Parts: sequence; C-alpha cells; structure tokens
Amino acid sequence: MLLIKKILDLKLVKDNIFHFMKDFLISQEISDDVSYCPLTRFSHNKKNTDSSPHDALKNVWDLASLKKLMLSLNNPPLQKTATQIVFGEGVLHPSVMVIGEAPGQDEDVQGRPFVGQSGKLLEKALNTIGLFRDKNCYISNIVPYRPMGNRTPSNDEVSFYLPFLKKHIECVKPKLLLLVGSVSSKALLDTNEGITTLRGKILHCMNIQTIATYHPAFLLRSPGQKAKLWKDLLTLSSLITMVK
Ligand code: URA
Repeated sequence: MLLIKKILDLKLVKDNIFHFMKDFLISQEISDDVSYCPLTRFSHNKKNTDSSPHDALKNVWDLASLKKLMLSLNNPPLQKTATQIVFGEGVLHPSVMVIGEAPGQDEDVQGRPFVGQSGKLLEKALNTIGLFRDKNCYISNIVPYRPMGNRTPSNDEVSFYLPFLKKHIECVKPKLLLLVGSVSSKALLDTNEGITTLRGKILHCMNIQTIATYHPAFLLRSPGQKAKLWKDLLTLSSLITMVK
C-alpha cells in the first residue's frame, strides 16, 4: 500500500514539472513573437503591464532628454536596419523648423539630416531666403531612422514616431514650420490631402503657422516643378518678416 502511494506521489510531481515546463515554453514563445515593436506588444498582449513608450514623453522637456529617451527605446521601428539615429540639428527658438520625411543613405552614415543630394537642394533654397541651420533654422524628420532601401516609411512607423516629433517641436520652439513632402505634411497636419493641395498655403500645426512644400527629392526628379518651391519659400519669407 505504502509503495503504491509513493509511486502515485512521484507521478504527481512529474506531472507538475511537465505542466510548469510547458507553460514556461509557451510564454517564452509569445514574448519572442511580440517583442519587435512596443506598439505591437500593447495591442496584442493583453497581460502586458508595461507603460507605453510614449508615456515617458510626459517627463521630457529638452532635446537632450528626448534624444536619450529615443535611444533607450526597446527595438523601435526601423532602428534595427539603420546605422544610427538621425535626431535633428540646428538652433533653438529658430525662425523656422524644417521637417522632412526620413534619413537617406548619406544622413544614415553621417547621423545628420538633409546632407545628401536632396539636402543640398533644400539648403540652397533655404539660404536664398536667409535661413541657415547654424543660425536661425532647425532641421529634423518625421522618422529618425533610415528605412531600408529608402522606402517611404509606413503609416505605423510614422504614427509611432509622431508623438516624439511633436515633443521635438515643443522643445525646439520654432516660430514657423516648413513641412517638406507629403509624408510629413499629412502626418503633422492630420489630413489625407495631397501635397499638391496643401503646398503654398498658410496652415497651422500645433498653433504654429506652417507652410508645406514639395520634397526636394521629388524636385530633383521633376526639375520643372522647382519654381513652386521658390514660390512657397517666398510665402515663408513673408511670414518670417511678420513673426520677427
Ligand atoms: N530626405 C529627407 O526627408 N530627410 C533627410 O534627412 C534626407 C533626405
């Protein structure tokens, strides 16, 4: 009788170990699966008690802590395939903060926004109306990492980084915004209107007067449209005189 009881006890212990191991392996599989992007984790893993990566933005009030927070994110979109973050550069309280789409190859290598071919065209255009990134201008992008192969960032990638960019704008405190290209214009103006409709008008984003214009990469492919960039910059220049 005693021997039978011992055998049954042993079987119970073995069953418990088996179930414990099974549960452990399943939970590992789930967490491996959802670890890619914090937003994915929040929508799919109901038991997740972590706070959203965007919650931490509440405690950010300067560029240094914003950059630190962005660098501390756990596997955020686009980071894995990029060389480094392209955060943004320029002066605080500038006349104009320029916001592009995404870093390209040159920006990815140098860690600086708009330093490639598009950047040269943009810089030349800005300089003609007296804007310089080391004097009165700040430049950043909607997403801070280069999408592989220079593809357009997806809606999910843009939505993930939009709260970081809005905090970036709050920290830089520009007098005016210049949105270059349809991706940054649509995201920051929260509209589905195309850039052809949006460009050249005086719009508002976060209570800041804003001009949207064509992306310089588009103008390099369609030089016939360049006159429209100059026209939009003249509108921006007249706003600069007014907010000075
Ligand atoms: N294109 C962009 O939109 N941003 C850059 O920084 C470079 C190219």
